[in-house]
Amino acid sequence: MGCLSLEMDFELSAMTPRSLAMTPRSLARQRLFPNVENKKQKVEQSGAGPRKNLQLEVMEPGLKNDGPSLDTILVNYLDTLTQRVNFHLGYPVNICYDHYATLAPLLQFHLNNCGDPFLQNTVDFHSKDFEVAVLDWFAQLWEIEKDQYWGYVTNGGTEGNLHGILLGRELLPEGILYASKDSHYSVFKAARMYRMDSETINTSVNGEMDYSDLRAKLLQNKNRPAIINVTIGIYLLQLLSFFFFSFMDLISHLTTSPLMFFLTIGTTFKGAIDDVDVILETLKDCGYSQDRFYIHCDAALCGLMTPFINNMISFKKPIGSVTISGHKFLGCPMPCGVQITRKSYINNLSTNVEYIASVDATISGSRNGLTPIFLWYSLSAKGQIGMQKDVKRCLDNAKYLKDRLQKEGISVMLNELSIIVVLERPRDHEFVRRWQLSCVKDMAHVIVMPGITREMLDNFISELVQQRKQCYQDGKAEAPCVADDIGAQNCACSYHKIDYISS
Ligand SMILES: Cc1ncc(COP(=O)(O)O)c(C=O)c1O
Repeated sequence: MGCLSLEMDFELSAMTPRSLAMTPRSLARQRLFPNVENKKQKVEQSGAGPRKNLQLEVMEPGLKNDGPSLDTILVNYLDTLTQRVNFHLGYPVNICYDHYATLAPLLQFHLNNCGDPFLQNTVDFHSKDFEVAVLDWFAQLWEIEKDQYWGYVTNGGTEGNLHGILLGRELLPEGILYASKDSHYSVFKAARMYRMDSETINTSVNGEMDYSDLRAKLLQNKNRPAIINVTIGIYLLQLLSFFFFSFMDLISHLTTSPLMFFLTIGTTFKGAIDDVDVILETLKDCGYSQDRFYIHCDAALCGLMTPFINNMISFKKPIGSVTISGHKFLGCPMPCGVQITRKSYINNLSTNVEYIASVDATISGSRNGLTPIFLWYSLSAKGQIGMQKDVKRCLDNAKYLKDRLQKEGISVMLNELSIIVVLERPRDHEFVRRWQLSCVKDMAHVIVMPGITREMLDNFISELVQQRKQCYQDGKAEAPCVADDIGAQNCACSYHKIDYISS
């Protein structure tokens, strides 16, 4: 039976981090596991098919084992993942990074950022210095002074939402949570966890909040503070400069009823964005003042895209907190995120804990000390110009995919300046699984992340076209009508086809 030794596997003399960083994943695997033969038949599942769960059990050292060694199992697993990377189209994870090898030696240490990032630790094995550097970067991006903000590196967007909504509830304990039905499921999970009353707001066909429904529900609950989840879509950015002056005017005239907002910047499925300015206007019209609402911005995916197009997230506006997922647009091997709020709000959550000699104001206790270093490294290595290039490439590729699908007569929708291409749900389950697509009702989506190449998109399109031919050629089945989901003008079903072609 093989045995994994960190000392051996991360032998720096044989494999410097930098050289490994320059090495393709498959070669890195060979260097990590030199004793396992690189035979094709060792790969149990080819990249062509979806990965099947392995039937694994924990082995006992020294006991006879007839199965493959630990190393062989891991090599097979690595090979499978390496191949499946080319079929990772449906979920918002950037799998294109090379810092994993440079930073691999850090795995020798247990790094734990338990407690407040800004306070000194009694233990040395933390990365709070890196964490604060990352937080400062985001604070600057979102226009809040160093001495005015508080934040931490979370385990992901969900934790940021849980934290943001908790902050809002602590500030406005009677608040009702308002969130659009296209908000991420973690928003309503927070409402259940905190036993908060919530209102689900309808959305328009592109996934953006229906402001007239919001208005109606705000008026119905006028006597209670409100917490609103706003999803801010990138395509509305262009409108912001137009709204800016009326927005400033609005702030100065807000009325005195309490309200709490939860704002989503880029909905999970359609990539739409709720317009914070329209929401503020609605609040004003409904008689809610600034001291009676809390806005949490869920910018899980788009939070690192918007600044490079038009920075719409700013603490100069009356927002309470912003969260992003670090593993999404930026990319990180482990789930992570960033949560930034106003320093004046965090005291409502903070408790002194003698045992950790720190202040507890985070959702989790022990916190991953590796992720702040990965974020810090990524931001520093890419820089603003690198990020901007990623954004542009993704937007171009999303448009390319949408145009090609449209040419093939396939129902498709792409919000302006979004990287989420929504298309009709492919009928063949194997195809959906093979391309790791996420599906809702009769829709599927492709999220054109930085690691996705034109070649991958071309392969996807030609397979989809083939698959549709097989499914629909005998006329027994028809492509689904998705007019209600993505708009009649984007639907290529037999009924809406004429409009589709002429548009
Ligand atoms: C808008 C939005 N919010 C929150 C989340 C949750 O983020 P995470 O998966 O990092 O917990 C997602 C995930 O896709 C999302 O799209």
